[in-house]
Amino acid sequence: MIGPARIAPSILAADFARLGDDVARVAPLVDMLHIDVMDGHFVPNIAVGIPVIESLRPVTDLTFDCHLMVTNPEAYLESLRAAGADLVTVHIEVHPDPTDIAEQARALGLGFGLVINPPTPFDSVDTYLEMADMLLVMSVHPGFGGQQFMDEVLDKVEQARKTIDSRGLGTEIEMDGGIGPTTIRRARDAGAEIFVAGTAVFRAEDPAAAVMALLGHIDQERDAGTHTRR
Ligand code: DX5
Ligand code: ZN
Repeated sequence: MIGPARIAPSILAADFARLGDDVARVAPLVDMLHIDVMDGHFVPNIAVGIPVIESLRPVTDLTFDCHLMVTNPEAYLESLRAAGADLVTVHIEVHPDPTDIAEQARALGLGFGLVINPPTPFDSVDTYLEMADMLLVMSVHPGFGGQQFMDEVLDKVEQARKTIDSRGLGTEIEMDGGIGPTTIRRARDAGAEIFVAGTAVFRAEDPAAAVMALLGHIDQERDAGTHTRR
């Protein structure tokens, strides 16, 4: 069954000179912060890493949802956990059989999720959903903020929703990339629960108001009833 809609602000779009202040602005309205970790290999960009997570940990209780866009995530699980990560998501393109890395993450007390890129079929994660707290469906090619939402991934989200519901799993569906006032509704209608938003939140004049506005585009009341895509 679909859970309540939540926004996970992505710090990639924050002002890194005032990161603590930016996080404090949205903290009362969300329970999760999305942190993009990139290595310049898996994606053609470099973002934040372990020292930034470490600096943020004492200033907020938010769940740190760490999206690992790196070719060897297994090498960093321990340091990520020590720095304060709560949950890591690992790309299925990097670990086509994620059994071992899921176990390593769990042994460290980390939540574990799987990520699929836009061209990657749902089948690649289907048999591993049982071991995932979260399935992150990318709605842009990973690496950069501010890109346009790819509608074609919505079919995969629908497929994931149906599969998760039919097996009675608790795996939450997250979408990442191009989420804004016009796309969040389509993402919700397809069956997603957690919406990563970088540009739409931190590049807004008032990030807190932006979070509220995004949630306002979702019909929570209707969602409380039976889920149907229109
Ligand atoms: C892209 C990142 C996203 C990014 C989303 O590689 O994974 O989390 O911050 O940014 P927006 O919301 O601007 O598309
Ligand atoms: Zn991300």
